[in-house]
Amino acid sequence: MTKDFIHIADFRAEQLSRLLERALADKKLFQAGKLPATCTRKTLALIFEKPSLRTRVSFEAAMVQLGGAAIALTEQDIGLGKREAISDVAAVLGRMCDAVAARTFEHDTVVELARHAAVPVINALTDYSHPCQAMADAMTAAEVLGGLTGRKLAFIGDGNNVARSLAVLCAKLGAHFVLASPQGYELGEQFVASLPAGPGSFAQTYDPRQAVADAAVVYADTWVSMGQENQKAQRLAAFRGFQINDELLAAAPADAVVMHCLPAYRGCEITDAVMARHAKTIFAQAENRLHFQRSLLNVLITEGGIR
Ligand code: CP
Ligand code: NVA
Repeated sequence: MTKDFIHIADFRAEQLSRLLERALADKKLFQAGKLPATCTRKTLALIFEKPSLRTRVSFEAAMVQLGGAAIALTEQDIGLGKREAISDVAAVLGRMCDAVAARTFEHDTVVELARHAAVPVINALTDYSHPCQAMADAMTAAEVLGGLTGRKLAFIGDGNNVARSLAVLCAKLGAHFVLASPQGYELGEQFVASLPAGPGSFAQTYDPRQAVADAAVVYADTWVSMGQENQKAQRLAAFRGFQINDELLAAAPADAVVMHCLPAYRGCEITDAVMARHAKTIFAQAENRLHFQRSLLNVLITEGGIR
């Protein structure tokens, strides 16, 4: 039994598949007005060291839909690790709330919260990974394509948190992950070596056209992640040529779907025209954050963890 949801790599393929199936089934129940309120009087503490739209709203809405409530706390509110030790914050929240979700710069901050909290802790994005996003994306792929297994996902852009979580999830689910990035923005050797062997595969290239050939999914993330604002000029220059536009998509299969974790910087990593054509899938990814996390909260809070 795993108490927390911190990194996709912590779970076996069948545990991840079960979570996805449950989230898809719960989504249907919810839409039919039949999902029971299993978290009545339960509370989620939500910690944010960085901005958020989707993550904050989806966690807060999910708790209300389950009959409970969420309490959002910013860095200014609590001074995590500054006003008070991370271990003390975890000890207090674990006594007052039924779960904690945290978006932090350092990945180790979430790991330490989990170590010291008696309740489940969820990674709501760190500089290292974004597992809830990857799981919501796999739900979307299941709905749009019938699943990721055996398919190729071409990630065009930065070898960062979202790419890392998707690469691990693809390896676990038997999908083929390819990252096309400029030199210097690849996924690191240590991470690549840690990827589980299995039916899936992993590759990196500097050629986005090569990456999108045979791809079922072409995926975009921002070129300048939260916390990297001081590198904006050099990043915009480095990533020129890695935009998802009609010219690049001409090298992809005609039925390839475009995904974006959002927020999107139109005119940078993706054009307005591509966003418009693939809006249905892209906003389904955002909506599925709600459906995945509601199921995850239900499992972690009412069952004590992931079996
Ligand atoms: N995709 C995502 O995590 O969005 P937010 O940063 O708005 O939460
Ligand atoms: N890589 C982006 C993802 C945003 C959801 C960031 O970290 O800002």
